[in-house]
Amino acid sequence: MDEIQRLRAAVQPLLAWYAQNKRTLPWRGTHDPYRIWVSEIMLQQTRVEAVKEYYRKFLERFPTAEALASASTEEVLKAWEGLGYYSRARNLHAAAKTIAENGFPKDYNGVRALSGVGDYTAGAICSIAYNLPCPAVDGNVLRVLTRLLASGESIDAPETKSKFAERLREVYPEEAGDFCQALMELGAIVCVPNGAPLCGECPWQTLCLAHLNGNEESFPVRAEKRARRIENKQVLVLCHGEEFALVKREEKGLLAGMWQFPFIEDEPEHYGEVIAERKAKHIFTHVEWHMTGYLVRAREKAPQFVWASAEKIAESYAVPSAFKAFLPWLARKLK
Ligand code: ADE
Repeated sequence: MDEIQRLRAAVQPLLAWYAQNKRTLPWRGTHDPYRIWVSEIMLQQTRVEAVKEYYRKFLERFPTAEALASASTEEVLKAWEGLGYYSRARNLHAAAKTIAENGFPKDYNGVRALSGVGDYTAGAICSIAYNLPCPAVDGNVLRVLTRLLASGESIDAPETKSKFAERLREVYPEEAGDFCQALMELGAIVCVPNGAPLCGECPWQTLCLAHLNGNEESFPVRAEKRARRIENKQVLVLCHGEEFALVKREEKGLLAGMWQFPFIEDEPEHYGEVIAERKAKHIFTHVEWHMTGYLVRAREKAPQFVWASAEKIAESYAVPSAFKAFLPWLARKLK
């Protein structure tokens, strides 16, 4: 059996398994491309469980592309607060303006041209919303497929995704949306990463080459990971009366345009009386922040900062989760 024959043989068992086993997820009851799009952007780099509640709230707040387009950047970032990878929110907002003007694009190229939409997301949206035979291959789908075919192609090589997309295109069934989601679902609940996959529950037990060879764990093949850069940060949680000092991050790069407690290079005592200190770590894709935070009672309301009360910060300033460890200090009333 060659690779295409094996893939073709895998389609119907997968669809049957999906019909029986799919999870009920908030975006699975709709074909509205706007809603599918929002779900796919949120699900990039974020787990299903973490997305559910954000998805519900976001759509309550912005039920249509028009509603999203007419919101301010600050409002959109605030709704995204805690989800991470904030450029997704900025791209979503930018694309909503295009959609509000021209309607939601109806084909792959149109969807792919939206800002923030790559090959995977365009494939997922077109499959799920329009039932078009457009493959969507991400790391999870690659894991499932490299195991099925016992393929030693490195999933970190840039061409591997498109090679698998081409193979899938040859076997895409009529039920494009279900097939797309079934591949994702198998990767999420059966053919899981890190640890033994649940092969006993897999519809491909008699087809999967890795399983037949007893070496599921050898796939996918990965290139060696590059180490993350470590950055040490001193975080100043500076309090004056009821208010705290914030600064806005640059509009480019990591956490662009978000609000944060100031980073300092000098001693926290220069700003006032140090009341508490704690360490925290936050891991991004390419960097780790090793933070030491200082809660400091300010001598004066230094004008280089923006000052806001804890309530106001919670309501209107998008502060990324990287600073979560210091938020309990905002609830503390300083005498
Ligand atoms: N991951 C990415 N897209 C998904 C979807 N539509 N359902 C479940 N997990 C996903």
